[in-house]
Amino acid sequence: MIKVIDPRPSVVSQRLSGVKKIIAVTGFKGGVGKSGLSCALSLAFTEKGFKTGLFDLDFSGASDHLILGAGNLFPREEKGLLPPYAHGIKFMTASYFSSNKAIALRGASIACAIKELFTVTIWGELDYLILDMPPGVSDAAFEVMNLIPSAVLLPVQTPCGLSAEVLKRSLEVYEKGKFKIPGIVQNMAVSKEKGFYSQIFYDKKWPKAAGKADKLIKTSFYADAFRLACKLDKDGSL
Ligand SMILES: Nc1ncnc2c1ncn2[C@@H]1O[C@H](COP(=O)(O)OP(=O)(O)OP(=O)(O)O)[C@@H](O)[C@H]1O
Ligand SMILES: [Mg+2]
Repeated sequence: MIKVIDPRPSVVSQRLSGVKKIIAVTGFKGGVGKSGLSCALSLAFTEKGFKTGLFDLDFSGASDHLILGAGNLFPREEKGLLPPYAHGIKFMTASYFSSNKAIALRGASIACAIKELFTVTIWGELDYLILDMPPGVSDAAFEVMNLIPSAVLLPVQTPCGLSAEVLKRSLEVYEKGKFKIPGIVQNMAVSKEKGFYSQIFYDKKWPKAAGKADKLIKTSFYADAFRLACKLDKDGSL
């Protein structure tokens, strides 16, 4: 029998060898604020002077380019793909390859495409790489976690009871994988609550600022995300 060897996982670890910390922003329900938080954290780490990358891994609903107002970029090819800069962030997204259309792929094909993109993307030296994770406990999410076992998982939930319940069950799956999970981020918070790693308060200006980075950084959402970036940076357990 011929043993088939997939060289990509070892290439991926080489490609990421210059990246100091990888933070995977995840949430086990849709619309909880993963993309907004991924963009805000990337802007915040960049503002703090860190070399930062952002990878939008939500193939069917890529939206970071819309939030950042970075729709006209495209990676350069040089023995791999060099992500272009969006507001100082090295930015990679499946939307470069979809001509702004929905990508109709089954879960296993999305997982394969994610592996390909990780294999060809040249990040170089980075202090932080933020991953806007595919939603849920899916083929695509498992692919990322298998490729990057060193990633820190940052789960986001909203005050909605259902979101909390689904997150609890899903976290049990990831805890078996021994990923570092500093705590849960509550987004769209309406009152101070204990037990969260961080709270991002509801901010009606945030959705209106989408697409305009100069406006995004003036919102209270961004101020909360900036505080979270500072906490993550100081957290010696990560
Ligand atoms: N703290 C907040 N205050 C007000 N609006 C918010 C807040 N967080 C997110 N939103 C809004 O909620 C919507 C969903 O946010 P976002 O796209 O970041 O979520 P998501 O988890 O990435 O969603 P999806 O599962 O579709 O990828 C957006 O319109 C966003 O502007
Ligand atoms: Mg999203």
